[in-house]
Amino acid sequence: MLNEVLAVLQPALGQSYLDLTAGYAGHAGAILGLTENYKHSVLVDRDECAISHLKPFGEKGTDLIRSDFYGAALKLLECGKKFDMILMDLGVSSPQFDLKERGFSFAKDGKLDMRMDSSQDLTAEEVVNHFPKQKLVDIFVKYGEEKPKFATKVVEEILRKRPISGTIELAELIKSKTHLYQKTHPATQIFQALRIFVNDEIGELEKTLPLVPELLERGGRVAIISFHSLEDRIVKEFLKTEHARGLEARLKILNKTPIVASENEISSNLRARSAKLRAATRI
Ligand SMILES: C[S@@+](CC[C@H](N)C(=O)[O-])C[C@H]1O[C@@H](n2cnc3c(N)ncnc32)[C@H](O)[C@@H]1O
Repeated sequence: MLNEVLAVLQPALGQSYLDLTAGYAGHAGAILGLTENYKHSVLVDRDECAISHLKPFGEKGTDLIRSDFYGAALKLLECGKKFDMILMDLGVSSPQFDLKERGFSFAKDGKLDMRMDSSQDLTAEEVVNHFPKQKLVDIFVKYGEEKPKFATKVVEEILRKRPISGTIELAELIKSKTHLYQKTHPATQIFQALRIFVNDEIGELEKTLPLVPELLERGGRVAIISFHSLEDRIVKEFLKTEHARGLEARLKILNKTPIVASENEISSNLRARSAKLRAATRI
């Protein structure tokens, strides 16, 4: 979604940029290349591998913050910082997903980890092997949007087979509980649920969105890319609520319906098919 992000953020020479999910700098590199304002820009990520990758920007004067984005946003507000552009490209990065040791994917066998921040205590292994039955069912229903009946069947099997040692073992166990034909692997939603829970992705988003207008200069723009309906609903509701404040609104919505990836991008990057971009400008 690089072209789409550039179209809504409209980076111009000298503008300041805050990337709350900088990852491997696909967006940040392009945007900072256009603004050339490295010194008044900030790149945030909670993943230490991403932060190491971002070091060349640090050498040019960009502030690199290794933190969850809520913590980073609070810190920046306390320092009175404001930016011309803010980007939130939610979820996991392809390098996180592709490295089997990170445990995000069941395409290759890895341990059940799923932490974006490897210094965090809670892992997917702890959740799967030690959480009580009802708590697991609730996680799968709430964050995986699974039907309670299927979630319960899977959890009962998990409880029978514990300890579950790896991503493939868990994916196979989930698959064994359904006979329905599905376009995606039957474990997809439950893996998503575990990842969202382990990284408190919804809590982070809900706490951080209200801080975004305060971090924007007047006329500044924010772009938010989400990858599943739970996140997109939160972003949409937040923007709608802001808009409904009438004269007190701090943000004006730039696109009423979300922008989606082009056919071209989807054909080279399947993950992009579920991406939704919403943008707003600070009034
Ligand atoms: C989809 S990737 C971003 C990719 C990036 N825009 C690029 O072009 O390379 C999401 C990144 O955000 C980070 N991330 C996700 N949630 C976060 C949070 N709550 N706080 C800080 N970083 C987060 C992840 O570690 C990951 O590196």
